[in-house]
Formats: sequence, structure tokens, C-alpha cells
Amino acid sequence: MISEKLREIFERAQRVCVLTGAGISAESGVPTFRGGGQSAVWKGMPFDEISSARMVRENLPEVWEWFDYRRGVLKDCAPNPAHYALAGWPDRFAEFTLVTQNIDGLHAAAGSRAVVELHGNIHRAYCNVCGKRFDIRGKIPHSPDDCDECAGKLRPDVVLFGEMLPAGAFERAGRSARSCELFFVVGTSALVYPAAGLAEIAKRSGAVLVEVNPEATPMTDFCDFTIREKAGLALPALTI
Ligand code: OAD
Repeated sequence: MISEKLREIFERAQRVCVLTGAGISAESGVPTFRGGGQSAVWKGMPFDEISSARMVRENLPEVWEWFDYRRGVLKDCAPNPAHYALAGWPDRFAEFTLVTQNIDGLHAAAGSRAVVELHGNIHRAYCNVCGKRFDIRGKIPHSPDDCDECAGKLRPDVVLFGEMLPAGAFERAGRSARSCELFFVVGTSALVYPAAGLAEIAKRSGAVLVEVNPEATPMTDFCDFTIREKAGLALPALTI
């Protein structure tokens, strides 16, 4: 249910920033990491252990097995009405920034441009030694080749636990969070920092905070409006 007050604010807003998480892709069939009291596990290992900088150092083949599995799941996933609704938002607002924690590439597939990908992209790899990037879309399992420049090992181009965010990404997101009037937190458990901190930056800078999530999160009490619905229903309904 979207309140009339929120509709008014949405209609008037000029500067809008949206942070998305795994929940926005749930209706596309992409499993979330948390939710319903459960956390993802791979071969008995919690996902934050297999998706860690330590695992890349100690067992890169196993990290690839996990990411190839996830890329296999994504092969059959398409953007849903929430991704498509957001793809139209740059036309509505003078300034619009879409920031995502997702690595699935579904915002771009729906037509969003200049998405700030805080956690990288599962369809890319980079060389552990020289940093050269490779497009690995459609190559499943990934080719176990070494880098064609320096013979270093390739690894997924995603941010793992214990790693820094891509250079400049958080700064761009932070600038937008600081300057926006309206900040949406969509489909994220709001537990992983620094991404979750963006909503706090926005709120402290005077933005109206809106959460779109069928479940309560640590962010809920902090928000001015909560739309307790699936993103695929809520975002198109707001956009009408
Ligand atoms: P989580 O799996 O932690 O949270 C997903 C959220 O989406 C939960 O709050 C659900 O209630 C909500 N949700 C489920 N279905 C939804 C729907 N249809 N519409 C809207 N919301 C829905 O995912 P994230 O918060 O994205 O990082 O996780 C943050 C980071 O933790 C990920 O980027 C990943 C993970 O570790 C890295 O891999 C570095």
C-alpha cells in the first residue's frame, strides 16, 4: 500500500537515489542470501566464507565452482517489473542514481545505464596479477585459462568479504546519497556495510527514506515510509 503523502513526495522530487539488494532480483528467480530466517550455504559452507578473500587465496577452484554455479542459475533469469520500473526513473527526475549491491547485471539488462555496482559483476573476471578484465558471460564453467597477458590466475570480478569496494564506486554513491531528496532502500537486509550506511548518510543529509521490502530490516525504524510489498509490485505501482 503506497500512501498518498509518499506519492506526492515522489511526484515532486528532483533528486532521487535508489539502493537495491538481492531482494529486487528474487522475483526473477535469483536466490537471496538471507531472509525467512535462513542464510545461503554452499557445500556446508556459509556463503560469506566461500565468498571471501581468504578462499581466493587458499582455494580459488572452489570459489570458481560456487560462482559458476551462481552464473548457471542466472542463465535462465530475466529482469522483472521492478528492474524495468527503475530503468524508467532517469526520465522522471532531474538527478537519478541507481546503486546496487547485486552482481547479477539485471538492472543493465532491463535498460538501466550508469548503474553504480558496489559489489562488482558476476559476468566479469579479472587477473589476480595484472588486473586485466575479462568478459565471461555465457562461459560456464568459466574457462580455467590463465590471463592472456601475464599467465596470472583469473578470479571473479566481485567484491568478496574482506575486500575493498571498487575504486570510486562508494564515493559516487555517497555523493548521490548526500545530495538526494528521496532515497529508496529496495530488497536489502541492510546488514552489509558500507552499502547499508548509504541510507544513513542520506537520512542525515535530510532525505526522505523509503524502504521497499516484504520483511522488516534493521533499517525499518529509521525509514520515513515503508512499503511492505514485493519490489515487483511496489515499484511499478509507484511509477504509475
Ligand atoms: P539479503 O539476502 O541479505 O537480503 C535480501 C532482502 O530482500 C531481505 O531483506 C528480504 O526480505 C528482501 N526481499 C525478498 N524478496 C523480496 C522482494 N520480492 N522484493 C523486495 N525485497 C525482497 O541481500 P542483500 O541485502 O542484497 O555481498 O545482501 C547484501 C550483501 O550480502 C550482498 O550484496 C552480498 C551478500 O554478502 C557480497 O557478496 C559482497
